[in-house]
Amino acid sequence: MRTPLVAANWKMHGTKAFADQLLAALAEGLASDECSTSVVICPPFPYLTQVAEAGSSRLQLGAQNLSEHASGAFTGEVSAEMLQDCGVRYVIVGHSERRSLYGESSALVADKFAAAKGAGLIPILCVGESLEERESGKTLDVVAEQIAAVSQLNLADTWHNAVVAYEPVWAIGTGKTATPEQAQEVHRFIREQLGDKGASVQILYGGSVKSANAAELFAQADIDGALVGGASLKAEEFVSICRAAG
Ligand code: G3P
Repeated sequence: MRTPLVAANWKMHGTKAFADQLLAALAEGLASDECSTSVVICPPFPYLTQVAEAGSSRLQLGAQNLSEHASGAFTGEVSAEMLQDCGVRYVIVGHSERRSLYGESSALVADKFAAAKGAGLIPILCVGESLEERESGKTLDVVAEQIAAVSQLNLADTWHNAVVAYEPVWAIGTGKTATPEQAQEVHRFIREQLGDKGASVQILYGGSVKSANAAELFAQADIDGALVGGASLKAEEFVSICRAAG
């Protein structure tokens, strides 16, 4: 049985005051909630400690990225150990914005996945296709390559304590969500690609998840939760999505 998981990706949004206000509203909205959903908040780096110190037992801490290096002369980078020092448990790797805007290859993403696992963090590996790749029937080939880059590292227990997020690039920030059937097809495929550990891995959907569409997505057999962008910045919306998952 896989525990439902909903993660908030704040991206590069917010201020200290905004974070205080949103965290208080989320803590209140989830405190009285009976849902079994695990909730992870992934703020920009400067607000990690603020989330950790928000003191809500319902909110776990995640980061949006990390260096593949353990330490060294890598200006501007943040290591897995530094994230742990802030109380981080989860870390997003290979988000499509990192892949497209910052040139992160599947090989680099795999190295970041390994750095996270090596430090005891839980990586949330993002995979997904562009609109052009979907329209040319390459969706499963693209996702298979992104998964294989990690599998080929042959880490011990690669997919134990790891999460995968399927985020079709054409659905991110566009308001155009994949249909439950489209998402389920790819989630099922991903689970098959993960081999014998597949049955226990939480596979999240990301891409214009809202309170209005969350329940129909979560009703799918292989959708275990969501990685939420825009809607995670609105307390009522995000709490509704967490409730729909649980
Ligand atoms: O990582 C989640 C994000 O890419 C989804 O963004 O705004 O479409 O929910 P959004």
